[in-house]
Amino acid sequence: MNMHLDEKIWLTLSFGMIMAFMVITGYQTFALEMGPPSNNELIDPQKVDETAPFNEPGIKQIGENEYEVVMTLQVFSFNPMDIEVPAGSTVHFTLTSKDVVHGFEIAGTNVNAMVMPGHIQKITQKFDEPGKYLVLCNEYCGAGHQVMSTTITVK
Ligand code: CUA
Repeated sequence: MNMHLDEKIWLTLSFGMIMAFMVITGYQTFALEMGPPSNNELIDPQKVDETAPFNEPGIKQIGENEYEVVMTLQVFSFNPMDIEVPAGSTVHFTLTSKDVVHGFEIAGTNVNAMVMPGHIQKITQKFDEPGKYLVLCNEYCGAGHQVMSTTITVK
């Protein structure tokens, strides 16, 4: 069967475009390191409790208005729960999952991330407005998924 010349030209063009995009994306991701940053740091999900910094989950002040929160997510809770920071604080979250994929969404902010076992997720958020922020798991993680929540109190 013969192909029309038009068809050959368009096939060649579209194939060429796909290859060009793949080369550009690959170059940006690996050579320019523009890939998503969250997948760079790995952890053995079986050994979260023994692996720093997750051997000591909690909140720590690291600057005048700066806090570090090391948190583990597991069915169906966040550890630590119910943290409190003063208004105007910048909070650096370091998160991982001990079992399945969970979500980390802070209602009323732009924070909305997946937290996967084997990966360390890092998010920074500034809290200017005092209030009680609801933290939700937004990835279905099992029977208790809908009760998996906690709060961040800003005062
Ligand atoms: Cu954890 Cu849904």
